[in-house]
Amino acid sequence: MENINKNSNFKVSVLTLFPEVFPGPLGVSLIGNALKNKIWELNLIDIRNFAKDKHRSVDDTPYGGGAGMVMRPDVIDSALKSIPDFKGRRICLTPRGRRLNQKKVKKLSKEEGLVLLCGRYEGIDQRVIDYYEFDEISIGDYVVTGGETAAIVLLESIIRLLPDVLGGKGTLNEESFSDNSLIEYPQYTKPRDWNGINVPEVLISGDHGKIKDWRNKQRVEITKIRKLDT
Ligand code: ADE
Repeated sequence: MENINKNSNFKVSVLTLFPEVFPGPLGVSLIGNALKNKIWELNLIDIRNFAKDKHRSVDDTPYGGGAGMVMRPDVIDSALKSIPDFKGRRICLTPRGRRLNQKKVKKLSKEEGLVLLCGRYEGIDQRVIDYYEFDEISIGDYVVTGGETAAIVLLESIIRLLPDVLGGKGTLNEESFSDNSLIEYPQYTKPRDWNGINVPEVLISGDHGKIKDWRNKQRVEITKIRKLDT
């Protein structure tokens, strides 16, 4: 799979009220090794450090009334201005955002870096989102407690596509969603007979043409079924 991101240092800044959540799963395995090897860089910005009052408030009640609290634009503005030589796109993780898909992930992996704003509470003052032209992204039609989890999902999906992260361990162009949005075929390994259930005969036939046809059929079938589920 081609990736035009020749700049191996992909700079990520994350604005969050919970910096302790990071790197979390981004600190292990291939993504964690890529972090250690400086293929990507993580700059954590604790939004609370930019609060304006002695109570260190970062949120306030919504104009127009309603439940919950809204993150203040002036606090987020100061946090954003603290990022040195920012390059790349600004993204706000919110359930109101456009739903993430592999096409978007690929596009973002070609940026020089990203600024991620993790929402909490009822939301973020819309003025700061509009002023800084944040791209609002959701990881799915459900709500998690905060944008941090969503930021981790987004970063996982992007960083594995950066050059040298998989180190030849993956076959990116064959996997689910990278080819015409078809889901991957099912996989089997040893033992050949497990609990009386055998591996499909075709896979041990040695006939590569037949195996390819069978796998393609499986991909089409499972894609039809799963798409109908949604
Ligand atoms: N914050 C809460 N739920 C979210 C979602 N589904 N996507 C992105 N950010 C979120």
